[in-house]
Amino acid sequence: MPHRVARRALLAGGALTLAGAGAAALVTTAGPEPSTVDFGGQAVPFHGPHQAGIETPAQAHAAFVALDLKPGTDRAALARLMRLLTDDAARLTRGTPPLADGQPELAAVPARLTVTFGFGPGLFDAAGLVAQRPESLRPLPAFGIDRLRPQWCDGDLLLQICADDPVTVAHAQRMLVKDARAFASVRWVQRGFRRARGMQDDGVTQRNVLGQVDGTANPEPGTDVFAGAVWTDEGPEWLRGGGTTLVLRRIRAELETWDAADTVGKEFAVGRRLADGAPLTGRHEHDPLDLGAKNAIGFPVISEFSHAARAHVLSDRQRIFRRPYNYDEPPAADGTADAGLVFASFQRDIARQFLPIQRNLAEADLLNEWITPIGSAVFAIPPGCEEGGWIGQALLG
Ligand code: HEM
Repeated sequence: MPHRVARRALLAGGALTLAGAGAAALVTTAGPEPSTVDFGGQAVPFHGPHQAGIETPAQAHAAFVALDLKPGTDRAALARLMRLLTDDAARLTRGTPPLADGQPELAAVPARLTVTFGFGPGLFDAAGLVAQRPESLRPLPAFGIDRLRPQWCDGDLLLQICADDPVTVAHAQRMLVKDARAFASVRWVQRGFRRARGMQDDGVTQRNVLGQVDGTANPEPGTDVFAGAVWTDEGPEWLRGGGTTLVLRRIRAELETWDAADTVGKEFAVGRRLADGAPLTGRHEHDPLDLGAKNAIGFPVISEFSHAARAHVLSDRQRIFRRPYNYDEPPAADGTADAGLVFASFQRDIARQFLPIQRNLAEADLLNEWITPIGSAVFAIPPGCEEGGWIGQALLG
């Protein structure tokens, strides 16, 4: 991949390099060596029992767009809106422009684009479908650690737009928001990023802006454990089988004080090593946490107040699937960072899975010294649809 290409380019241009040629000469003498992987051309199927963008390996860029329905957007209008947005998303994710695309050329690089739709609590009121709202789909209770800002909270309709290319994300966002305009207004947009595709092998657990290996203990996509944790199998009929729920928290990272902490303190707070993400009781990243292990003076090696210990659950059905992105906004005038995670958690049921973990963390988690939730929103994620169908049809149709 890029490393390989670079090496070949280097070999091809070796003589020139030795002769002291600059980088530009190196590139031109390397010739038209094609990239071995066409990341931009890759498309993720839009149709299927589940919406794409959940089990899909996380793409490099994301925009989470929350819309508020305008007064008068009732069930019939919502059905029209969802038909339209589904059609847009199906076309865009294939790498073709939606109808009335002012910049159709921009649609040609799908870059694994996915568009995942979510329904916030208010949508059920607007549609007159309160009885169809999943019981635990309501704003999370307030936690002592929260410093929530209304500008990052709630929302009636979510568009989670992910792709390996930021231009693709921007174009899809523009098309979808434009088509939603008659029905809804933009409440907030949260942009996030991970490492660019191709910088590391696919499947390497990524580091977040705090430098931690983040995602190790996630349920593995494609497994029964994942399905049992994520796909809703109870509650309202329209959500069952292929649907799930999303909790989106904007969590600021206090990078100034985190920078000042030493490695031992940082590792103690999480219970895992910074170098490789291995638990403090293990040698490799994927070794299980040994919460019973004691050190020479009888204290637990992994503190019971560490993030990993507090977030750990014993039953697979209680696990959550984290699909977080980093954010990094312009720093304050004095240089203080405005960075953190757009923390996205998918689970069958918010009350049974997310809330107990979040309560445990809010109560006591050493990491709390360096992380502050500043935004919070919840959405039901309807099942996927087949060709000719549309997202939300079983609820709104
Ligand atoms: C900025 C905020 C956060 C950061 C930086 C963070 C970081 C981490 C890190 C480094 C790990 C260990 C590696 C791994 O297993 O992925 C981890 C594990 C985990 N985190 Fe977080 N986390 C944050 C927020 C949250 C929140 C809000 C929740 C849920 C309410 C959560 C739930 C979990 C769970 C379930 C695990 C796996 C625990 C296990 O080993 O079973 N995290 N997190």
